[in-house]
Amino acid sequence: MNINPAQSIRGRAKLPGDKSISHRAALIGAIASGTTTIHNFSTAVDCATTLSCLEQLGVELTRNNNTVEIQGSAQLQKPTTTLDCGNSGSTIRILSGILARQGFSCELAGDSSLNSRPMNRIIKPLELMGAKFESNDGKPPLVIHGTQAIQAITYELPVASAQVKSAILFAGLGAQGRTQVKESSLSRDHTERLFNGFGVKVTTDEDLTVTIDGPAQLTGGEITVPGDASSAAYFVAAAMLLPDSELTIEGVGLNPTRAEFLSLLSSWGADISTEGVSDERNEPIGTVKVRSGINSESSSERRIDRPKIPSVIDELPLLAVVGSQLEGGLEIRDATELRHKESDRLKSTATNLRLMGAHVEEHPDGLTVAGPTKLHSASLDSFGDHRIAMAFTIAALIADGPTEIAGADCVNISFPEFFDLLDSVVVR
Ligand code: S3P
Repeated sequence: MNINPAQSIRGRAKLPGDKSISHRAALIGAIASGTTTIHNFSTAVDCATTLSCLEQLGVELTRNNNTVEIQGSAQLQKPTTTLDCGNSGSTIRILSGILARQGFSCELAGDSSLNSRPMNRIIKPLELMGAKFESNDGKPPLVIHGTQAIQAITYELPVASAQVKSAILFAGLGAQGRTQVKESSLSRDHTERLFNGFGVKVTTDEDLTVTIDGPAQLTGGEITVPGDASSAAYFVAAAMLLPDSELTIEGVGLNPTRAEFLSLLSSWGADISTEGVSDERNEPIGTVKVRSGINSESSSERRIDRPKIPSVIDELPLLAVVGSQLEGGLEIRDATELRHKESDRLKSTATNLRLMGAHVEEHPDGLTVAGPTKLHSASLDSFGDHRIAMAFTIAALIADGPTEIAGADCVNISFPEFFDLLDSVVVR
């Protein structure tokens, strides 16, 4: 894919449904009583992957464009073949929480990226709850031997992770007694909000302990998924960086555990406002307005580290690109987790930024990006990672010539409309 530089970003956009919320809404629908209707279901390939795994598990569902209707079942069926989780970490990890408490064994596997990602983080707590796993040295393929006698646990996550927290909460729904998960920093809390929205009480203490009392039954219902905040981030950053930009994005999910990038970009000079905020099954949703702007003052404060990392985990490659345009640059630390995503995102981000002429130091747990630097036209790789492809498309818009990104079609994993929507608001 060849991307030409742009002059500005102007207009209005509405984004497809949030990927994380769509996964969870589908999983909830599969095990809730009655029918669940999900509007604005994500168009991401990853979410279609979750739906096809559910179908393999005997769940009845229909998809009509972006509306998905799911009949909940008290009992899933043992699949006849391996569940193909594709590229999707959320599918394999969160679904494992449900499979851990079924009375059958089944196998889950993914593509080469997913099959190289760590799974001990779910295996350990789910085994403590009574399930048994086989794995390829802690990686997929996984065989899960579920148990209907799943046990409640109290568990402290070694690394904050919404996927792991969610797997434990989905398993905890079937356990007798109180399941508690404690995090060191708050990761996205969609599972907690949606469980509460679909009839099961989940509480979160000040010390970030999440509590659910089982056994508990979710009740099916209707939901309209908010626009994907992480997808919005690329448009917001582009409008911030390109002069004379003015962009309105409607219906964006504004959950504070996801929208932290808006505060960061504002503090770095973007003119951002949110309005018309309403609530959809406990998920805030509103309109985001952005105008270009970048602080020209140097700051030693531009560091993103531990407490904030989980709430910008998927935006970090993009924030590193923005960092290359800031006076004084940007430092990202305590982000070793980025090495375990769809690609090693610290390495992919550093490699591509350097190819565009930026000065980047790669640390075991982060990056120091110098700035401001005029980015140059270059030949880049997506590393098969949708977030890298999109972050560097935004870098390409502010470069001094056309930029080639190999394998950019991997944007389909989270945001198939990315290039078309960008074309609709880019002024060249
Ligand atoms: C997700 C959680 C995050 C995030 C991923 C989606 C989720 O992963 O990076 O894109 O939907 O729960 P971790 O739980 O591994 O941090």
